[in-house]
Amino acid sequence: MPENITNIAYLIAAVLFIYGLIGLTHPRTAVRGNLLGGMGMLIAVVVTLLRSGLDYELIIAGFVIGGLIGAVLAIKIEMTAMPQLVAVFNGFGGGASVLVAGAELYKEGLTGGDPGLQALIAIALSGIIGAITFWGSLVAYAKLQGVVVPDQPVRYPGEQVVKVLLLLASIVCAVMVVQDPGAMNMYWYLVIIGSVLGVLLVVAIGGADMPVVIALLNSYSGLAAAATGFVLSNNVLIIAGSLVGASGLILTNIMCKAMNRSLANVLFGGFGAIQETASADDVYGGKVKSTSPEELAMLMETASRVVVVPGYGMAVAQAQHAVRELYNLLEARGINVEFAIHPVAGRMPGHMNVLLAEADIPYDKLIEMDDINPTMQQVDIAIVLGANDVVNPIARTDNSPISGMPIIDVDKAKTVIVVKRSLSPGFAGIPNPLFAADNALMLFGDGKKVMQETVNAIKEA
Ligand code: TAP
Repeated sequence: MPENITNIAYLIAAVLFIYGLIGLTHPRTAVRGNLLGGMGMLIAVVVTLLRSGLDYELIIAGFVIGGLIGAVLAIKIEMTAMPQLVAVFNGFGGGASVLVAGAELYKEGLTGGDPGLQALIAIALSGIIGAITFWGSLVAYAKLQGVVVPDQPVRYPGEQVVKVLLLLASIVCAVMVVQDPGAMNMYWYLVIIGSVLGVLLVVAIGGADMPVVIALLNSYSGLAAAATGFVLSNNVLIIAGSLVGASGLILTNIMCKAMNRSLANVLFGGFGAIQETASADDVYGGKVKSTSPEELAMLMETASRVVVVPGYGMAVAQAQHAVRELYNLLEARGINVEFAIHPVAGRMPGHMNVLLAEADIPYDKLIEMDDINPTMQQVDIAIVLGANDVVNPIARTDNSPISGMPIIDVDKAKTVIVVKRSLSPGFAGIPNPLFAADNALMLFGDGKKVMQETVNAIKEA
């Protein structure tokens, strides 16, 4: 295929990627965005395959094996385990970059060719970033899946010094790869150092901060792919890798902002390590009132506006379909029901949107935090469904680990019903004074069960 046709096709693919990403910014256009991105990828893959000199047997074998593994994983995975699946996929991207760059260096060594300075720098970058991404992602997976690696940050004296020394060693190896492309061993030393660095960087971070780290590793996998694009002189890989690198970084930034934390605090600090907070006994002692699904059903009879605030517990309980039933029932009785979405509710970006969309809740009923907060005073009943930190009013004070994190102002609603199994803290590990507020009632139980019982109670009333 002539080079100029290839480049035009790659350009079309790149435009489709960009329109795909734009589409993914809103639930209404997300499916179309996904389709556009997929079409771009199809064009990129077909055009690359049509370039000469490829071994189709191996490509088809890889396609079939990889496709099967991907399909089985995607079908079997629980929604709550999605972050670790994304971590593994990022890791494989990084691992592929290491192998492709290594193969290219090996090929040049065999043929005695000179890859040129740009390609050699790109090979070294692919090796180091790809190795960090691969091993870092595997550790992130292990932490989230609760296997082998401790969930808590692994800390030891002089850890930062060790990491800086490893980084310096990797730079030395990278320089040697560039200077002497024939020394294949040096490339593998570079990969080994990158691998150790990847493990050490991620074991030092608590399992609860893993979603941010996964977004960052996603960005790294894009950078590694872009570097591999330079190794292979493949423009579409450079563009796609850069888009992944940039969007991963933007996502990391959004998540840090919504948690009111700096990236440095996520990577080197940690929740709970900053301030002392009041004990649960001080906050709740004798002040918590509980209610039942039957009482909630009675309260609903006089309500005209209900807001549901979903959180991680809704995902754990898989309560989205039961809450959809409640929504149908209330709307049929003329009650306006909306869903207030906090940017970091759950454990991954868009977690609540995905679950509610799966249950066919209309998109226009999902209201972003900044839009719903000014109207919270007019809400008759706010149902906090398995959410905790994202409604914790302690975030408005100066002396807590979540100080400054924006929250959904449920405490301003006329009545707040908090559905969760106990008074246990959420992700940030701190008590929530909302549970003891005058206008709050706790409805203890599994989110799905409580929603179903409330639906039954309303039907029977
Ligand atoms: P959390 O603060 O983690 O609280 C979830 C609550 O759900 C828990 O207190 C738990 O209480 C309850 N729960 C668990 N299983 C349940 C079940 N089966 N039925 C009913 N309730 C159940 O969740 P959140 O309010 O969504 O806040 C998210 C947190 O994650 C924030 O701190 C955020 O910064 C952090 N985070 C989010 C992200 C993204 S991108 N979303 C990324 C990194 C970190 P019980 O055990 O008493 O039931």
